[in-house]
Amino acid sequence: MSESLVRDTFGRATADLRISVTDRCNFRCTYCMPSETYAGKYYFLPRKELLSFEEITRLARVFLGLGVRKIRLTGGEPLIRNEIEGLVAQLAALSPGLDLTLTTNGYLLAQKAQALKEAGLGRVTVSLDALDDAVFGRMNGRGFTTQRVLEGIWKAVEVGLTPVKVNAVVQRGVNDHTIVDLARYFKGTGVTVRFIEYMDVGSRNGWRMDQVVPAEEIVRRIDAELPLDPVERNYESEVALRYRYVDGGGEVGVIASVTKPFCGDCTRVRLSPDGKVYTCLFASLGHDLKGLLRSGATDTDLEEKLRRIWSARTDRYSEERTSETAHRAGRVEMYQIGG
Ligand code: GTP
Ligand code: 5AD
Ligand code: SF4
Ligand code: SF4
Repeated sequence: MSESLVRDTFGRATADLRISVTDRCNFRCTYCMPSETYAGKYYFLPRKELLSFEEITRLARVFLGLGVRKIRLTGGEPLIRNEIEGLVAQLAALSPGLDLTLTTNGYLLAQKAQALKEAGLGRVTVSLDALDDAVFGRMNGRGFTTQRVLEGIWKAVEVGLTPVKVNAVVQRGVNDHTIVDLARYFKGTGVTVRFIEYMDVGSRNGWRMDQVVPAEEIVRRIDAELPLDPVERNYESEVALRYRYVDGGGEVGVIASVTKPFCGDCTRVRLSPDGKVYTCLFASLGHDLKGLLRSGATDTDLEEKLRRIWSARTDRYSEERTSETAHRAGRVEMYQIGG
């Protein structure tokens, strides 16, 4: 297999592969799968449509050949996929230097953390939007309290799935009054909280610009109580802007995908549970690989297809967003490609 990198039309490489392993989730976050829409008999992918662990691992190997150095497992909720640690083990065996991570809502993390670590997972990112149980329960759409998520976070720290990061989506009038509490709670623990601007992903969450709290405001509000200094990015395509507590209590991050888009450095490629490749979080169409995989294609065929897809890539949605595009129907949903 060729080791040469592939570049898109803006010269961006493929460095970061995000694999969604299921479109199902045990939460109904209002900004992702609002329960009004996803209650009862919503259509989720049937099992035979899902890529098997072997198929995922085979594709991942081809992606590594194209320059991918980081793999993130997502969902829906990745920990509800049966025996997910089996997939982790297969992926970990692909390359010793691989940055192998997983984004979870944390609900099943305490019970899974040890097995994930033993299988070779490097670290985890846990979504937690507020510490306040009433606010959190409303946002996760199921009334779940923070207890199990917090237990998951500390278990992940204990078994060494570190550095653990916490993702919090911020919505004005919903949880923006709890930002500083969340930052304070994790300050000095080694867990980094990243506040994410609420995005117009998919087409079913009723996004409005006036619900977005700009990252600058988030930083200003934290800085007023817990003084911060900006820090350089860790790597070129890092999405979070980093800040460090002046008193040495660690870091926080903000992900300003609405007010300060980062498409220019976007090296992220996404694989859906049913084997489609998406070249942007805001795409409507995925490129099917499952058909090829299941019709006897060789690794070279797969690689060629991926090269064609990536070389033609022109996406820079967040830089082009307008009030019109923000409500376009038919886009892939967050729980189908995992953020
Ligand atoms: P690290 O490896 O820990 O640096 O991870 P990361 O910064 O890639 O973080 P993570 O994958 O947890 O992404 C955080 C959040 O940023 C995601 O859940 C999305 O909400 C948002 N995000 C990530 N990638 C993109 C992207 O390509 N475009 C946009 N618009 N948002 C993104
Ligand atoms: N805007 C911003 N972040 C979102 N996430 C899900 N939906 C949205 C949205 N509309 C976040 C989740 C999780 C990650 C996978 O993406 O909270 O942390
Ligand atoms: Fe589930 Fe994550 Fe979507 Fe919440 S944001 S409903 S935890 S997939
Ligand atoms: Fe990448 Fe699309 Fe997000 Fe821009 S909007 S950073 S191109 S995924």
